[in-house]
Amino acid sequence: MKDKQFLMIPGPTPVPETALLAMAKHPMGHRSSEFSAVLAEVFADLKWLFQTQEDVFIFTSSGTGAMEAAIYNLVNPGDKVLSLVIGNFGERWAKIAKMRGADVEIIAADRGKAIDPAVLKARLDQDVNKEIKFVTLTHNETSTGVTNDLKTLNDIIQEHGAISIVDGVTSVGAIQLKMDEWKIDVVVSGSQKGFMIPPGLAFLACSKKAWKAYENCKNPSFYFNFGAYKKSAAESTTPYTPNVSLIMALRETLKMMKA
Ligand SMILES: Cc1ncc(COP(=O)(O)O)c(C=O)c1O
Repeated sequence: MKDKQFLMIPGPTPVPETALLAMAKHPMGHRSSEFSAVLAEVFADLKWLFQTQEDVFIFTSSGTGAMEAAIYNLVNPGDKVLSLVIGNFGERWAKIAKMRGADVEIIAADRGKAIDPAVLKARLDQDVNKEIKFVTLTHNETSTGVTNDLKTLNDIIQEHGAISIVDGVTSVGAIQLKMDEWKIDVVVSGSQKGFMIPPGLAFLACSKKAWKAYENCKNPSFYFNFGAYKKSAAESTTPYTPNVSLIMALRETLKMMKA
């Protein structure tokens, strides 16, 4: 027990023994048919977890990498982005979008409070010319412990027509998030939270509506390129060398979650 740690923080979370043991094995060749069979299983189980029929991309990065991927594959410089901020991680969306050259507007709630759906609705109702193309929001804001009413907020965004980009880093696997049923456009997450594995993988799922924005994106990202990840997912592989050991661990924790 000397080397055991029990972390009581929002993440990294404790990692189950079976996942640790899966990582202890020698890594498989990432282009082998053996590893593709693992990936096929993991991709299917990720769809189950995200409650979506869309592909769930696996990036070798922390959660912020998937946040950057979302903005850099969808948003063109000059696009109007509305960022709903209830803490540090909501602010991060606004910072990434600003760095991308977007025209960012912020609706901030008082610290410790969630976004008031009426405030969002009033702002989007004002936008009669549909200038707001994207709305970024945090499902569960780790810095304050506050959970937004994602379904209600997303319904308002969908009624307006903007693309919703959701930080599900501390919600996927822990708080109900029905991506397809609720018609959420983009969900990102990170391995060290509800997935019960160490830090180092990020996840992103994207709706067909958001995919159109990717197709219209003039300068998408290279390493996090949606097109490259989608093409590879269809072949049960990844465009670049993935973190094989973490994916072996993920296979185990996804099995546990399903059970
Ligand atoms: C809600 C939320 N979003 C984003 C992040 C950033 O994730 P990472 O530190 O994995 O880049 C975190 C990390 O704690 C988080 O809790």
